[in-house]
Amino acid sequence: MGKGVIIACDFKDKEETFNFLDKFRNQQLFLKIGMELFYSEGPEIVREIKKRGHKIFLDLKLHDIPNTVEKAMKSLSNLNVDMTNVHSAGTIEMMKAGIRGLTKENEERPILIAVTQLTSTSEERMQNELLIERSIEDVVMKYAEHAKEAGLDGVVCSPLEVQAVKKKCGENFITVTPGIRFKEDDKGDQVRITTPKKAKELGADYIVVGRPITKAENPVEAYEKCVEDFIE
Ligand code: C5P
Repeated sequence: MGKGVIIACDFKDKEETFNFLDKFRNQQLFLKIGMELFYSEGPEIVREIKKRGHKIFLDLKLHDIPNTVEKAMKSLSNLNVDMTNVHSAGTIEMMKAGIRGLTKENEERPILIAVTQLTSTSEERMQNELLIERSIEDVVMKYAEHAKEAGLDGVVCSPLEVQAVKKKCGENFITVTPGIRFKEDDKGDQVRITTPKKAKELGADYIVVGRPITKAENPVEAYEKCVEDFIE
């Protein structure tokens, strides 16, 4: 299983995205494209970025009835991304439908991971609004187990949850962890953060890094520091 630094391309449009990517010249990157960019530019942005030789994590967090998720994944499978995701709250049946949709005969399926509980949801809100009367930790672990049972490859989680997830779901179950900051950085709106070095020590497989790279004075240097600290 590869280790990797995934850059979150949280840009509003194609122009901003390519201005950023041009700084990297010929480096092959792993890029996360989320709803903002995908909804503003459509699937073409994925094709164009792939054409430049980059890998893509398409972060659209599908959550709907199983039939719709299966069909949506079938459409997305034509984009040949490297990684994509669904919400585990959509049930085991829905996650299985996601796998069916994404699988093409005789082709390697993209990595499919599950979002457990969004880090923006506090325990209080989860209990009062979603009426889930358990701790966030319990929910994250249970949802990770469901993802594993459905046949998914891993989950998005906090670096601080990696060890517990691996213990429950096995060493090969992939953990993709946002919430990464260099020591000297602002936290921004992230609460539970770790450095790339710490994420490596905790055993994360991929780190997702947005602003510490995209807003850095020198994004290429910031990216290279992440790679050095997390992989080398
Ligand atoms: O800029 P920053 O490094 O905080 O970006 C982190 C990225 O990871 C963003 O694209 C954010 O949407 C995403 N993410 C997250 N927490 C999650 C799931 C995704 O921060 N639980």
